[in-house]
Order: sequence, then structure tokens, then C-alpha cells
Amino acid sequence: MLQQVDVTDEQIERAVALLRAGKLVAFPTETVYGLGADAANVAAIRKVFAAKQRPVDHPLIVHLADTAGLKHWASVVPREAWLLAEAFWPGPLTMVLPRAAHVPSELTGGQSTIALRVPSHPVARRLLKAFDGALAAPSANRFGRLSPTSAAHVREELGDAVDFILDGGECAVGIESTIVAFRNAQAVILRPGAVTAEQIAETLETEVVPPTASSPRVSGTLPSHYAPRTPLKVVSAETLEDVLRSESPQGPVAVLARRGRPQQTRAALWQVAPEDADGYAHHLYSLLRRMDSAGCHLIIAEAVPDTPEWTAIRDRLMRASVEDVEVPAVATGT
Ligand code: TXA
Ligand code: MG
Repeated sequence: MLQQVDVTDEQIERAVALLRAGKLVAFPTETVYGLGADAANVAAIRKVFAAKQRPVDHPLIVHLADTAGLKHWASVVPREAWLLAEAFWPGPLTMVLPRAAHVPSELTGGQSTIALRVPSHPVARRLLKAFDGALAAPSANRFGRLSPTSAAHVREELGDAVDFILDGGECAVGIESTIVAFRNAQAVILRPGAVTAEQIAETLETEVVPPTASSPRVSGTLPSHYAPRTPLKVVSAETLEDVLRSESPQGPVAVLARRGRPQQTRAALWQVAPEDADGYAHHLYSLLRRMDSAGCHLIIAEAVPDTPEWTAIRDRLMRASVEDVEVPAVATGT
């Protein structure tokens, strides 16, 4: 199903040369495309914030070639972090740890912690190995917008603000990594992702604090995160046609559902996402992008199941929606 795209050694070499010269290179990871810069070059880090139009107090994730890099970037690596690294790296997990003294504060948004991850995408791995250093890389989108899951999305988002794009095809996971911090030997999930709270709890043999209603939340401070430009509402399957009836008079409405288009519906556009959580995550952002450019005044997403495997998707739909804008206070960037 995944489109295979080959990246040549020459392209990797060109990317490395540009990164060493302080330029920005977008590259594929298994989650979403990252906008990469040399994590040790403050001028390059500043360019990332400028290209994304991202506020400087939103810290970046530092991507490493392997687990050995942990000790260089973090001042303290608790036992729990080593266990998670062993279980899930390379892969879609980011760990927030106390930062080492040499870490530029531009990288961490002035915080005393640093976010670290070893990605598994073969192109990201080749790039990190050849670069022989760490890459600061937020998702390669403008601030507040949907993360790109293909090279074409990156070009759409950043245009000439990125110096080079390594095209590694579609990202397999399709939504951003799970972000975990540690408090008193307990893992706290700051952003849910493909690595689930259950998997982390099982690895650490202890309970995990998931991003539930009991986590600290701020309401309305970040109105459009991971968001399409078109307003989005999440509604139950039962109320979908009622909402369409009241919304359609104001203009065409697009629907994102996991079932085929009913014979009778007022939806102007009906997009079918896969029924399983992994497939849904893989397609979510490209479907939202397509719906966003369809000229509709509203996108309605049919609610997804209330089970653990759908946690990360419920989180992204919630962040993308216009109503009930509530995001965890802890991990807020885009
Ligand atoms: O899957 C991913 O994580 C992708 C790929 C490119 O690796 N990256 C990504 O980066 O989603 P970005 O910058 O779009 O999101 C990073 C998130 C933000 O929510 C930011 O607030 C959080 O990580 N973060 C970074 N450093 C942090 C820190 N020290 N403490 C708490 N949160 C942090
Ligand atoms: Mg982002």
C-alpha cells in the first residue's frame, strides 16, 4: 500500500552538505515529515522558527541516530528512559528529559528539558548516520497547521522556506510521535501517538499517566492546532445527518467517516477513512488536507471509537476541531 520512493546516496550527501552549511532540509520520518536543522547550530535553529512562523517558546524535538546520543543531550537519563529506548527506538516515541548544560536554549524554548527521539524511517536513519550529528526537527508545516505526511505536503506548507526536501514517500504512521516525560519514575504522556500508554505501562511495569480529563488542560489558548483552515466539528454517527441538515444551508459541508456514503445525505463531499486505527491515522492528515481544499464551509468528522487504540486519533480530531478547544497544557506546539 505504501508508495516506495528511493532516495539516492547523492541526495543524502546533498542534504548533509546543506545541513552542515546551516540550511534547512525536510526529511521523512515514520510519523510525519520533519523540518531539519543542525541541532548544534543556533543560527540554523532560528531559521526553523522563522520558516514555520513558530513562536520561539515552543521547543523542538532533537532527532538522534541512535540511543547513544541520549547521554550527550540529556543531563539525567533515568532507568525508565533506557527501558523505553530499548523497547521503542528506533520508532515513534519522543522522551522529554533534563537537558545537558551545552544545549542551546533556542532549541528548548528556554525550558530546562529537551525532547529526544530516534526515528525509524530508513531515509531519516541514513541521513542521521551520514550527518553524524543530531537534527532539530519540528513537523514541516506552518505553525498551527496539519503536519505533512508527504513531500508534496511539505512543499505546499513551506515553499521556498525549505532549502531541500528528501522525498521518502508517504509516512507510514501518519500522526506525530508519542511524547513522554518522567515524574518520580512514572511516565506521563504529554502527547498520545502510535506507541500507546498500555505499551509503555507494560514495558515499565508501572502505571502511566495518560492525557485524560484529569491532566492539566488549558481551554481556548491555542485555537488551531493540527488544524485544517476549514472549521471542523466532531459529531456522533447518530447526529451526523441532523448536523448536516442545520449546517448545509450555510454552504457545502464535507464529511469524514469510516463508512461509505449513504444514499441519502446532504454532504457535498464524503471521504471514507479506514476502519482500523492504524489505517485511519495513516490517511488522516492527507484526507483532511483534501477536504480543506474542497471549498466547504465546514468539515464534519464522525466520532471514532472510545477505545485505547483510538486515543491518539481522538486527540488529533479534538485539537483540529473548532469547538471544545482543549489541549493539554504540557505539550502544545505543532
Ligand atoms: O513525530 C514527531 O514527533 C514529529 C517528527 C518530525 O519527529 N515532530 C513533531 O515536532 O511533531 P513538533 O515540533 O511539531 O512537535 C513537538 C512537540 C511540541 O508539542 C512541543 O511542545 C513538544 O514536542 N516538546 C518539545 N520539547 C519539549 C519539552 N522540552 N517539554 C515538553 N514538550 C516538548
Ligand atoms: Mg508540529
